[in-house]
Amino acid sequence: MAALVLIAAPGAHSWSKEGHIITCRIAQSLLDEGPAEIVRNLLPDYAGGDLSSLCVWPDQIRHWYKYRWTSPLHFIDTPDKACAFDYSRDCHDPEGTEDMCVAGAVGNFTAQLLHYHHGTSDRRYNLTEALLFLSHFMGDIHQPMHVGFTTDEGGNTIQVRWFRHKSNLHHVWDREIILTALADYYEKDMDLLLQDLQNNLTTGIWADDISSWEECEDPSSCSSRYAVESINLACKWGYNGVTQGETLADEYFDSRMSIVMKRIAQGGVRLAMILNRVFAVHKNHHIPPPT
Ligand SMILES: *[C@@H]1O[C@H](CO)[C@@H](O)[C@H](O)[C@H]1NC(C)=O
Ligand SMILES: *[C@@H]1O[C@H](CO)[C@@H](O)[C@H](O)[C@H]1NC(C)=O
Ligand SMILES: *[C@@H]1O[C@H](CO)[C@@H](O)[C@H](O)[C@H]1NC(C)=O
Ligand SMILES: [Zn+2]
Repeated sequence: MAALVLIAAPGAHSWSKEGHIITCRIAQSLLDEGPAEIVRNLLPDYAGGDLSSLCVWPDQIRHWYKYRWTSPLHFIDTPDKACAFDYSRDCHDPEGTEDMCVAGAVGNFTAQLLHYHHGTSDRRYNLTEALLFLSHFMGDIHQPMHVGFTTDEGGNTIQVRWFRHKSNLHHVWDREIILTALADYYEKDMDLLLQDLQNNLTTGIWADDISSWEECEDPSSCSSRYAVESINLACKWGYNGVTQGETLADEYFDSRMSIVMKRIAQGGVRLAMILNRVFAVHKNHHIPPPT
């Protein structure tokens, strides 16, 4: 497994590494005992049992020839200004291949991981990769601007200033808000932020919301629900009022930080929910395959 080399990716289009790491740490902390062991077994040795150490891997390999097919799986382009997601209309790559979007990918890799219980004889799937892809894409689908408008590429072509430096609207949501939050409130220490998130999940503001976040009859259609939530947030909080070349600063940050934190927490809670279900040892794990 030494081939899984970590290289920093230039201009990653994803929750920043911080966003993915926190999502995966939350998820791993919420795993039941059996599923936790299966996750540790699927991870390569050098991950040291830490899922979060490899949750950015799909961003690092997306431009490699072997993995070029994964490139459209990080996001969804929806019709400009529609502020809606429709799986059959919107979940495809630029060539129109169905299911090739982040909602389809969540269903795909969830279905693949169900093969874990069907024994190791099925060599069609690499379940280590499936685990890393699912963990990463559950983060991406919760980043509101990953379900954005087609023409502006989810805000990537909307140039803005973030306080004093140049950025773009997509990147503001991938990373800038998280970095500003870390600097302003958490001494730039991700562990302090993670602790605060986890307190808000166990005893704080979200303690009563977790069970509704986890509700899911069928993970392949739940991923559509997460995408709908994201495009709604993108419209209401991401795009709303932002114009090309504008400077975004305190006012934008203060009103958006809590949304970013909640999406990271939701991604983690829901990733744990899916992994607990697909790897449940004695429970019925017949989750229908993706449509
Ligand atoms: C599964 O994928 C990982 C990561 O790409 C790789 O290191 C490993 O060799 C693969 N396993 C098999 C059995 O192909
Ligand atoms: C599902 O995963 C397989 C590789 O395991 C890939 O060939 C296929 O394109 C993927 N489809 C989606 C929608 O992710
Ligand atoms: C946790 O909740 C408190 C109280 O509402 C809030 O001030 C803080 O920003 C929250 N932390 C995170 C990381 O969301
Ligand atoms: Zn991504």
